[in-house]
Parts: sequence; structure tokens; C-alpha cells
Amino acid sequence: MNKIGIIGAMELEVEELKSKMQTPKITRKAGMDFWEGGLNGANVVVVRCGIGKVNAALCVQILSDLFGVTHVINTGVAGSLNAALDIGDILISKDAVHHDMDVSPLGYAPGIVPQLDTSYFPADEGLIELAMTSCQRVNPDIHVRTGRVVSGDQFIASKEVKNRLISLFRGDCAEMEGASIAHGAYLNGLPFVIIRAISDKADDSAEMDYPSFEKAAAAHCARLVEDMVPRI
Ligand code: ADE
Repeated sequence: MNKIGIIGAMELEVEELKSKMQTPKITRKAGMDFWEGGLNGANVVVVRCGIGKVNAALCVQILSDLFGVTHVINTGVAGSLNAALDIGDILISKDAVHHDMDVSPLGYAPGIVPQLDTSYFPADEGLIELAMTSCQRVNPDIHVRTGRVVSGDQFIASKEVKNRLISLFRGDCAEMEGASIAHGAYLNGLPFVIIRAISDKADDSAEMDYPSFEKAAAAHCARLVEDMVPRI
């Protein structure tokens, strides 16, 4: 039977999902609370992993080893790297890459993890499709598209850094966990998808916009995830 791991970095990204769970059992591990139970008729484990790539990677491994999840969904907010993605829009991952992995002095392109089969971790086609359909169903007024998630342990808030991420990686949104979750899912053979609502433009306006828009953006993603999980 399917068991879906749902990861958000921050409490506001998972609080709505947790509040809707039936008979949750809470297990604490590595400083994270794993909420296991029913959500809209599906078996899920919802967890706030904390911010950044180390927290995210540890979380995926625990979901795999301790909870035996069959699928992984990452929900949350992100900065836009694509002029076609405005604040409030939603991006569903096609793939994800670490923008702060850099072994270029040894001849590897930025983002490439040496000695790994892939560094642009592909999201599961079925989950992408389900996420797109659920988004159109529950958020019909919200613009949604698929694209590339670029992740690093860095809040992107300058035009120069943003332009670098666009030119080097052709990223559509920037955040701080997705590629780690994708990487961990890939190593464990788990299908995954990343669902991110845009909270800012990852440029000089990001510090101002982010606090104003993060809550509404996170809520849109949560609604989508809730609709999607029983269909997996
Ligand atoms: N999450 C939301 N906005 C972000 C940004 N600009 N950079 C990194 N992570 C983010």
C-alpha cells in the first residue's frame, strides 16, 4: 500500500496538512516530528524538516528507512527565476539540481555531482501529472507550470545571483531543499515531485516580498497536496 512522505521546510508549509490529518501518530527523530496517519483517505507521513539541504536529505532518509514511504512530495515556497512565474503562481518540478555544487576546478560543470549517474534529478512523470491536475482543480485561478528547481543553502535576493542561476542552470525557481529531497529520493529509488508556490522574485525585492506572501503561497500548495494524495 502507498505511503506518501510529505516534506515542508517550515511549519507554515505543513501546518494546514497536519491540522487535517486523521489520528496522527507523532514520532520524533533527528529533531523532526514525523506525523503519520490519514490525509483525505491516503496514508501519509507529514514532516517539517527545517531549512536547508542537510535537514532535507536527512529527512528523506528517515522517511525511507523508518517509515517505508513509497513516494515523496516536497511542498513549500520559492523565489521565481522565470519572468513567466509571478508571485502566487505555482511551479511543479520537472527536475531539480544543486546550484551550490561546484567541482568546476576539476573540470565538472557547475551543479554536477561527480561520480553520480545524474545531477538533474528527474521528478516522477505520474506525480507531475497528478499535481498539475490537482492544482487546476483546487486552485483554478492560479497560474501553474512545470519547470526546473534549483536549490542551495542560500536565500537568493540579488539580481546578479539570480541571473547566474538562470544562465548556468536555466532554473525556474530557487529554494533551499528541493534538490536534496530529489537527490535522496533518487538514491533510494523513490518517485518524487516538488511543488512550490512563488513567494518572491529572488532579486533585490525578495527581502520585502517574502514575508508578505509566504503564508498565502504555502497554503495554496497545501491545498493542492491534500487533493492529490488520495489519487496516487
Ligand atoms: N524560498 C523562497 N524564496 C526564496 C529565495 N529567494 N531564495 C531561496 N529560497 C527561497
